[in-house]
Amino acid sequence: MDQAVRLPSAQGIFIDNQWRPSASGASLPMIAPAEGVAFAAIAAGNDHDIDTAVTAARRAFDGGAWSRLTATERGRLLSKLARLIEDHADELTLLEARDTGKPMSQARADAIAVARYFEYYGGAADKLHGDTIPFIEGHFVTTLWEPKGVTAHIIPWNYPGQIFGRSVAAALAVGNACVIKPAEEACLVPLRLGELSAEAGFPDGAINIVPGLGETAGAALARHRDVDFISFTGSREVGTLIQSAAARNHIGCTLELGGKSPQVVFADANMDAALASVVAAIVQNAGQTCSAGARVLIERKIWDRFVADLALRFGKVVAGTPEMDLQLGPVISAGQKQRIETMLHAAEGAGCLRVARGHIADGVPKGGFFVPPALYAQVDPASALAQEEVFGPILTAIPFEDEAEAIRLANATDYGLVAGVWSGDGNRALRVSRKIRAGQVFINSYGAGGGIELPFGGMKKSGHGREKGFAALYDMAVMKTMVFKHG
Ligand code: NAI
Ligand code: MG
Repeated sequence: MDQAVRLPSAQGIFIDNQWRPSASGASLPMIAPAEGVAFAAIAAGNDHDIDTAVTAARRAFDGGAWSRLTATERGRLLSKLARLIEDHADELTLLEARDTGKPMSQARADAIAVARYFEYYGGAADKLHGDTIPFIEGHFVTTLWEPKGVTAHIIPWNYPGQIFGRSVAAALAVGNACVIKPAEEACLVPLRLGELSAEAGFPDGAINIVPGLGETAGAALARHRDVDFISFTGSREVGTLIQSAAARNHIGCTLELGGKSPQVVFADANMDAALASVVAAIVQNAGQTCSAGARVLIERKIWDRFVADLALRFGKVVAGTPEMDLQLGPVISAGQKQRIETMLHAAEGAGCLRVARGHIADGVPKGGFFVPPALYAQVDPASALAQEEVFGPILTAIPFEDEAEAIRLANATDYGLVAGVWSGDGNRALRVSRKIRAGQVFINSYGAGGGIELPFGGMKKSGHGREKGFAALYDMAVMKTMVFKHG
């Protein structure tokens, strides 16, 4: 990478607006996925560092300067941070691109989205109103939305900046004090956002960031007895651990555990629009998007033509380095690449047919974690390739005969995060959409990962709780009921 990337402090642990070394002295290598080589080392926190961070957040929440701000003042700080993020968009773009390997234009879109999260929740901070409730004669009852307290945010590596934005901005707007554990694979943008938050003037302890391994720093944060709420995005396996830890402390959590989201294409759909969206929704971020459109369900009448057109488009997709700025970059790590290849090997062994494959650009570094995008057909809807998250640029095509079968197949996985329905018949599109069990359904469009304003979260085993939009504020707050007897 030619342009210089300014790294946040190598000390890496950000507590009370200051950088600190890790208690153990341990560090994490930062590996550039496009090259497969380490370019930096960041301090790795453990349970001591987590305890220091939670203590700082508790001080901020219980009487610290943060707790004394009005909702409007909190909103202004969030808005100020949004502007600072915009001003530093070039730098954040380079940092995210190097850390995750994503194409430069996607990294820029991510940086702008982070700013937008802080802008949106900055404006929302003083608009969370309670109700008055009719009650017994001589009483006046009102409800207040209060912050939960110290909120823990365990965020993944696929959208480190965006997921920091969506979860932390909403928590701060309500007045929580945050401890953030970014992913070991990509934590540079979250750390830089910490630094920018100090520049914006956030009081000590409102935002604390402890990078480290999931099983050490992440687990210590999830089980810490002074945490009041956990927001988690990641794998189902770890989601189970998070919810168990929350249960032991009798606190709540938001879990966003990904999906196997279907795009349902009827014969009367606008074909060009559907084709372009179906490809983009799985190729974006190399398929490492919780809401990736990972299954395409195609009405039998148009199966041959649609699959042939899709195959043509897939054959032209090219993966490259961030600077090449093609449709996709590498996947995040050697481990994720291996995981994808193992799944595809098993699927091919079980009779799934690869009908098209994209390319990897000439000249990418040999050690980069590139996976060519691919389209599979003849996939048994009950097989692993149709049921499990691949988290790579791999699309599974399945035919359906009629509306009833389309709905049955769309719902035929454990997941329920997002769906797309493509049809020129508005009544049918609405009918089908209402029968699909998913937290978001798009008609004649698809938003993989998009929409700051749109409430987002799972049904079924995709998780629970809502992030994004105004709805997220209610999940980050707790309702207090106040009863005045005035006689
Ligand atoms: P993961 O669930 O292990 O990682 C997500 C976050 O959880 C990271 O910050 C990690 O450090 C933390 N973590 C890991 N173990 C933990 C523990 N015991 N206690 C507390 N925190 C812990 O996901 P991983 O292993 O990186 O990816 C595996 C698969 O998970 C992917 O292939 C994909 O299917 C899914 N995934 C889904 C994401 C989504 O956006 N829904 C994001 C990342 C992964
Ligand atoms: Mg893991």
